[in-house]
Amino acid sequence: MANPKQKRVVVAIDGPAGAGKSTIAKRLADRLGFTYIDTGAMYRAVALWALRRNVDPADSHRMEQLALAAEIELSPGHIQLNGEDVTEAIRRPEVSSGASKVAVIPGVRRAMVAKQRAIGERASVVMEGRDIGTVVFPDAQVKVFLDADAAERVRRRLLEARAAGQEISREGLAAQMKERDERDSTRADAPLAQAPDAVYLDSTRLGIEEVEEAILKIVRARVTNGKELN
Ligand code: DC
Repeated sequence: MANPKQKRVVVAIDGPAGAGKSTIAKRLADRLGFTYIDTGAMYRAVALWALRRNVDPADSHRMEQLALAAEIELSPGHIQLNGEDVTEAIRRPEVSSGASKVAVIPGVRRAMVAKQRAIGERASVVMEGRDIGTVVFPDAQVKVFLDADAAERVRRRLLEARAAGQEISREGLAAQMKERDERDSTRADAPLAQAPDAVYLDSTRLGIEEVEEAILKIVRARVTNGKELN
């Protein structure tokens, strides 16, 4: 008998901040008709709640309680935390740092991973983050590790920050991203890492379309026997 679960496809995209994961994952999800899941936004929502309630991100016990209690809803282009639209609030620089700090706590990660797996069990997804191919969906059909030179990643994030009206210097942003990437890559639980079976893509000198086509090629090869999905 056909198992409906077998049709579910997971495209996992991991990599450091500013590598282009969100842009690419959104476009891929559109092209494939899959659900786009930004797992970083989930950690950001927990961090935002902690900041608002003055919970120390190093307090593992309280942070785990917050993560378990957080009602996080993702819909195209929006994220809600406990019924409030926090799409813009979670992009503030203090929330970026806070998210990286709360993501160190194993109890917080367990709560987020459970939510992420539940979503991926219901629908085909393009899911981006740091540990999707290694921990959340180690059996994902498509795994990509998207990278870019540090200077290029800072340049991209600076453009985004300025477009959002944030006043931040290049140096300040570069230091913040370096600190965040170091913390994300060196934590004990589920650090940012390339899964052994992930395809490494360096987007430094590639246009968005080129990266998108390269990943679609992998999807076609691994999932649809070379055929177009749409
Ligand atoms: O993708 P992002 O920059 O919005 O993620 C914010 C932080 O959340 C990032 O610094 C580390 C953490 N994160 C994580 O630990 N695991 C994920 N799967 C996604 C994000």
